[in-house]
Amino acid sequence: METDIDRILITDRELAQRVKELATQIAACYPDEDTGLILVPILSGSIIFLADLIRHMPIKMKLGLMTVSSYSGATTESQGPKLEMDLEEDIHDQHVLVVDDILDTGKTLRFVRSKLSERNPRSIRTAVLLRKPEKAPPDVTADFVGFEIADEFVVGYGLDYDDHYRNFPHIAVLKPDCY
Ligand code: IMP
Ligand code: MG
Repeated sequence: METDIDRILITDRELAQRVKELATQIAACYPDEDTGLILVPILSGSIIFLADLIRHMPIKMKLGLMTVSSYSGATTESQGPKLEMDLEEDIHDQHVLVVDDILDTGKTLRFVRSKLSERNPRSIRTAVLLRKPEKAPPDVTADFVGFEIADEFVVGYGLDYDDHYRNFPHIAVLKPDCY
């Protein structure tokens, strides 16, 4: 795996530091007496970000899982979001925080937000670890963003290429011949 990595963009230490800051910022928006917070991680890319984030959020919450995929197989071209597994939790009148790994073209978050809004939650906010500002359209914003990065395909810390490299601890770019 290591031999496929070209460059590290964000180290595990930088990730840990920033995720902790984000968690504090997010938790402050949801006072504990205001019950009914459901975090909706978009699987599979958000798993490591989610795991680190919630352990720094000392507030009551539930998790509701949703699987949405835009890439099938060995490609860096998004095929548009496809709902693979829908959320089972009742989110009516609940605060929903969607957690995703990256805001790229914005199609995933737009799709997820519209699906969740149909169920009348009390609020919907979004937290993403990474954002590619050159790509994301102005109508798809995230309330909480970890890092802004250039428009290149990245892996590690949950993000994959062809389902590999999710376990690489840093955010990195692969060598050109590995895509
Ligand atoms: P969007 O729908 O184009 O905003 O893309 C969002 C989804 O595509 C994310 O949830 C990721 O799973 C995936 N994705 C987008 N860019 C990358 C990347 O650079 N590396 C790995 N996955 C990515
Ligand atoms: Mg994803």
